[in-house]
Amino acid sequence: MAAICFDMYGTLCDTSSVTGTLGRELDASAALVAEVDATWRRRQLEYSFQLSLMDEYRTFWEVTADALDYALARYGLDPDQETRERALSAYEDLTPYPGATDALSALREAGHTVAVLSNGNPEMLETLAENAGLASHLDEIISADAVETFKPAPAVYENAANELGEPLEECWLVTSNAWDAAGAGSAGMRTGWVNRNRDPHERIGPAATATARDLPGIVPEIR
Ligand code: LAC
Repeated sequence: MAAICFDMYGTLCDTSSVTGTLGRELDASAALVAEVDATWRRRQLEYSFQLSLMDEYRTFWEVTADALDYALARYGLDPDQETRERALSAYEDLTPYPGATDALSALREAGHTVAVLSNGNPEMLETLAENAGLASHLDEIISADAVETFKPAPAVYENAANELGEPLEECWLVTSNAWDAAGAGSAGMRTGWVNRNRDPHERIGPAATATARDLPGIVPEIR
């Protein structure tokens, strides 16, 4: 039996579900909210990659807060601190993708160990897993925070394999982030890419072990 890790943000939970909160809190048009949301997520990822390359570390919660501040400033928005905090807290209450709990429980019933492996720090992951109804379907929540760097640095995947007590090649990472599949594959894990948008394959990193359009589709690919 294998150890199956799932990425959290964008794979099990839909990061674009923050738009509802942003719309209410910023009192902005849907088009502006969509821009702020896209910039927020893009900067969140870029800041995490940059910090890793710079050999610096901040928790993913801090990175997410910094990215939100940037996105607000980018569009000339200057809400008060309480509004910012309410917008940020949307990250603790994201909507799970359809089939998320079924995929986790089907793999668990098949005898696999099922975990989250995410750049999120433990507190934000635990709160989200609880709020999204995922916590009771998980054996473990493993955070990049343990090694104070971010995926796709190999140390994060290696630490997960250690935590799970399995060699890297017996571990899977299921992710909808192509950069994450490339990183996990390059570190030696098997990978399931949930390619919801029919994106072309990436030009760096090994090809995914398995690809599907959605979470239910990836389950039969994992043996
Ligand atoms: C995760 C994000 C960054 O690691 O997708 O959950």
